[in-house]
Parts: sequence; structure tokens; C-alpha cells
Amino acid sequence: MQKPAANDHPIHEHIRHRWSPRAFSNKPVERTVLASLFEAARWAPSSSNEQPWAFLVATKDDHENFAKTLGVLVEFNAGWAKEAQVLVIAVSSLTFHANGTPNRNAFYDTGAAVALLSVEATARGLYVHQMAGFDPVKTKQVFGIPEGWEPIAAIAIGYPGDPESLPGHLRDREVAPRTRKPLSEFVMSGQWGHTSPIVSR
Ligand SMILES: Cc1cc2nc3c(=O)[nH]c(=O)nc-3n(C[C@H](O)[C@H](O)[C@H](O)COP(=O)(O)O)c2cc1C
Repeated sequence: MQKPAANDHPIHEHIRHRWSPRAFSNKPVERTVLASLFEAARWAPSSSNEQPWAFLVATKDDHENFAKTLGVLVEFNAGWAKEAQVLVIAVSSLTFHANGTPNRNAFYDTGAAVALLSVEATARGLYVHQMAGFDPVKTKQVFGIPEGWEPIAAIAIGYPGDPESLPGHLRDREVAPRTRKPLSEFVMSGQWGHTSPIVSR
């Protein structure tokens, strides 16, 4: 199913068509394609080129690892994410490697990397659904994530599935239109709260 953005200004087709489904196809994601998604993440910009991200990846054919990843999701997310072909945990390094000082941009940079991964996925007919609903303490334990690294998001990846495969309450959300704040609410110039003339109509 497609849910293109109802954009007010022209944007790239791959941004327009990215969205976060909960219905996934059972078609496996080719390893080479998956590698390209992480390659896209690799080329994200980051503060001091620190690249403070790491990804724990589980493909569905790796039953033990997939079950382990599914097991750290909250029940609501596990209910639909079990159908995705790939589950990922995005992890951030909290300090700069060079001198151990706090990296206040680590989450920002990791989010940028996942954003590029998501657009690369869309370009390849894949969809990405990020999740905050997982247990970070359990995640650190079960994956042996070292001190100084923080799991920040779980991610489901796969080819799109049939919304009819979802239970009723999720099906309704799956087919509901995507909504966004207007640009005039968050693009400002000169003074906080003053809509930028660039986006005022
Ligand atoms: C950091 C982050 C955490 C999210 N957490 C969840 C989640 O736990 N469960 C879920 O179903 N969706 C989650 N989402 C998906 C958002 O609800 C979704 O991106 C948003 O509604 C916009 O929809 P769209 O991505 O289809 O445009 C999350 C998205 C992000 C970026």
C-alpha cells in the first residue's frame, strides 16, 4: 500500500513515499540490499565525523537472534513487528572516542543516519518503521551493549504487506491518512514564534 505525503511544496519522490507501515510482506530482504541500507546510514553527516552509531541486525531466518530482538519490544510493537523480515536496534555512543567527553549530538547523528537508511529503503521498495517502544535496560543486557552506549530505537524493515493482514485496530491506523503540522508552525525567522516569510502563504 502507498501513502504518499500530501505535500504543499515539491519534494523528492523517495521522501514523499516513505511511511511507517505495520503490515509487512513475507518476502525476505536480500542481503546485498540490506547492506546498501547500512551503507546509506554510513554516509550520514555527524558531529566531528564521530559516526556515533551502531546497529544490531536480526534477519528473520536467524531465528534465535530475531526472537531475541522481538523479545525486547513492548507487547504492542512485538504484535506487528514479528511479521517484518528484519529487526534492528540502533545504538548511540554517548561520548567522543578521542577524549571521552560527552557527545551531545549522538542521538541527533544516529537519527540522521536512520533517516538516510529510511530513504535508501524507500528507493528500493522497502519500508522502515522505527520504534521507541522497547526496553532499553533489557536490550543492553541481552545484547551485551557496553557501558557508554545507549540503545535508542528499534527498527522494523521489510517489503510492504497487506493491511488486511492486521487486526482491526491496526488496520484502521494503517489506512488512515498521514498528517503533519503546517510549515508555518515550525519554520520561523527573526524571533521565536514568527513564521518565516519563506513558508507563509
Ligand atoms: C523515534 C521514533 C519512535 C517511534 N516509536 C514507535 C513505536 O514505538 N510504535 C509504533 O507503532 N510507531 C512508532 N513510531 C512511528 C511513528 O508513529 C510514525 O513515524 C509517525 O506517526 C509518522 O508516520 P509516518 O512515518 O508514516 O509518516 C516511531 C517513530 C520514530 C521516528
